[in-house]
Amino acid sequence: MRKTSGMLKGNYSIVALFSGDEESLYAFTSTSALVIGKGNGTYVVASDMTTISTYSSTYTRVDSNEVVKLSVNHGIQSFVDGVIIQKKYSIIDSMYKKSSFYTNKLLKNNVDFMISEIFEQPSIIDNILNKKKFDINISSILKSNSITIVACGSSYFASLIAREWFENISRVRVNVEISSEFRYRKNNFNRDDMLLFISQSGETVDTIEALNSINFLDNTLSIVNVRGSKITCYSKQSVYMDVGSEFSVAATKTFTAQLACLYRVVKLICDNKKQCDIGQNIGLSHKVSGMNGNIYDNIKGVIDNVIKYCTVHIPVISKFISQYDHLLYIGRGLGYGVALEGALKMKEVAYLHSEGIAIGELKHGTLALVDDKVIVVAIVPSDEFIHKNIINLHEIKARCGKVVVITDMCVYSKFQEFSNLDGFTFLKIPSIKGEFFPFSYSVVVQMLAYYVAKHRKIEVDRPRNLAKSITVE
Ligand code: BG6
Repeated sequence: MRKTSGMLKGNYSIVALFSGDEESLYAFTSTSALVIGKGNGTYVVASDMTTISTYSSTYTRVDSNEVVKLSVNHGIQSFVDGVIIQKKYSIIDSMYKKSSFYTNKLLKNNVDFMISEIFEQPSIIDNILNKKKFDINISSILKSNSITIVACGSSYFASLIAREWFENISRVRVNVEISSEFRYRKNNFNRDDMLLFISQSGETVDTIEALNSINFLDNTLSIVNVRGSKITCYSKQSVYMDVGSEFSVAATKTFTAQLACLYRVVKLICDNKKQCDIGQNIGLSHKVSGMNGNIYDNIKGVIDNVIKYCTVHIPVISKFISQYDHLLYIGRGLGYGVALEGALKMKEVAYLHSEGIAIGELKHGTLALVDDKVIVVAIVPSDEFIHKNIINLHEIKARCGKVVVITDMCVYSKFQEFSNLDGFTFLKIPSIKGEFFPFSYSVVVQMLAYYVAKHRKIEVDRPRNLAKSITVE
């Protein structure tokens, strides 16, 4: 196996069975993405903790210079350069055990993971914003001149939304980077600069290699969902979202959980900086702290009502949308990141060509795409951009674009005041306070993609060509 691994390039994990030694399994990997578990005479090797948790309550990782032999007679033996080594086993987080029970229940009842994970969000957002103990060493963040956030896919879009909060509320300069671009760049950071790595799985190779590319720095914090995942081995600090396993490949509950964790970091900076521009910048008047210190008292109730509204109204609109092949998602400020995530969801689960774009960018090229064969989904919350956005939507309607407006009653009434509503399709969701709208609008774009996929008879949890976490380049 050492000879074989010497000939291999790139990232790999291999489990081998040799003829003449059928009693043993051998495992080795270049990326320590393999985990080992043992329980009641059962020895298991797998690439994810949930599988291991079905058989074992402890686990250990296979390191890249190691060969592991699992055999009935000798159990688990780990070799480095042919020498047996002792391995430290850690307790598997109970979240996995719960997940496998949850999995079987859903599988038995033939419920899609995606929609059941969408329905978990009201409690998850409430828990992280208002209840979860959030112990990070904030001093390393406070002493840094700027923050750089590095991530992939939905985690990258969550980071783009959070940048608005960091800049507008805690007044901290933030760069947001795509991991696969960041890792190959000669990045120039000062020792105090702070880097956040966002990854629900904690196993995404581009984000891990991005972290490795700057591992000389001290100020690295990762926000992950999977305890014991590789990224937590490399970052100096880790925050766990603890929202349970996410089985649907398309991120939903982990996306809003990332938003909530990042909002808590912004709030922590404000509390420690004794400087807080909450509301002033974005012209919304409300105090952050609700009763007993909650960030947002009844956010669970608000998101519950948004889901109820969408369950009634989205199936009809998604039937209409499912007849089109091209979509543009548009938003401004915090809404821009929501538009990008909405487009990604529609691509991931409904296989429709969708592009997220900043509303202000439309006139600089993309407007050329608009005609009566294009659906434009517009994120139009009650913020200081209402009038600007309404004007832009009329420019799209003037080019026969089919506009679906995700908004609330307050904006809708302004729309009525301002113009005739023909040619617009509205989703008037229950309103939410100020800068918290990405939580509810993200749920809406998730449900829109889910129901369009159902209309197109697509299996939503295991979309083609995609994986839950990309552990190889
Ligand atoms: C992709 C997933 O493989 O990786 C996406 O399909 C996800 O849903 C992306 O957003 C990044 O994953 P992670 O685990 O690093 O957040």
